[in-house]
Amino acid sequence: MAVITGGASGIGQAFAQRLAQDGFDIAIADLNPASETEELVEKEQQQVLSRPCDVSSPESVQTFAEAVLARFGKVDVLVNNAGIYPATSFLEMEWEEWQRVLNINLNSIFHFTKAFLPGMVASGWGRVISVSSTTFHSGLGLNTHYTASKGGVIGFSRSLAAEVGVNGVTVNTIAPGLVRTATTAGGPQSEWFDALAQQQAIKRTQEPSDLLGALSFLASDGAAFMTGQTLVVDGGWVRS
Ligand SMILES: NC(=O)c1ccc[n+]([C@@H]2O[C@H](COP(=O)([O-])OP(=O)(O)OC[C@H]3O[C@@H](n4cnc5c(N)ncnc54)[C@H](O)[C@@H]3O)[C@@H](O)[C@H]2O)c1
Repeated sequence: MAVITGGASGIGQAFAQRLAQDGFDIAIADLNPASETEELVEKEQQQVLSRPCDVSSPESVQTFAEAVLARFGKVDVLVNNAGIYPATSFLEMEWEEWQRVLNINLNSIFHFTKAFLPGMVASGWGRVISVSSTTFHSGLGLNTHYTASKGGVIGFSRSLAAEVGVNGVTVNTIAPGLVRTATTAGGPQSEWFDALAQQQAIKRTQEPSDLLGALSFLASDGAAFMTGQTLVVDGGWVRS
């Protein structure tokens, strides 16, 4: 079974649907109700559990993890996807906003991996897949907290991969470019869609569906010899 953080909408919702199609039962941790995602998973005849969960709160993650383990016994795939991306210049950024972005985008990965990695190690098979961003590679402005958090995701994955390869657990990262989701389409990012598409080798705006092949591969047995890596899926914008 697979846990997906931030699976109530956007990229996480598409991830939940795809892993359900691949035969995984799904658990969603999100601040918002995930009823739409639940329906998509049930259509694939897979079990689904969702609970309100603040991924930045250790207590909230622990409560969620207890519910997941009580229902499913163990977790095979953890997808650390929940994240926020407020666009703020560093000179205007307050310490509170910096901490909020780091807590949601990076520290959450500590809480979820702590909760579910021991079960993967015990069973001798597991996948930890985290979502970074090619803002890490490109260094876009107005994103210092975000880019620092997404670089942290890559560093975390590289180092953890070295520890748990012997246990049959792989740890990888997917780095999307700018993806059209309800949040980006309704935010300042929407103004960059067209210009960014022109800088890509493939000149159209990225959709969540463009990430699903990479996700499905990393979660599969076919990716068993690949770990500590970052798969850049951005239409050929950056070269990693
Ligand atoms: N959309 C993009 O252009 C893009 C590009 C690169 C990377 N990413 C990354 O992909 C991931 C998903 O992005 P998206 O565009 O689908 O975002 P989104 O806003 O559409 O969805 C994010 C989900 O995370 C949930 N969430 C936010 N804070 C949470 C918290 N504290 N606890 C629990 N759930 C929380 C939201 O409720 C939402 O359902 C993020 O990590 C983001 O940084 C997105």
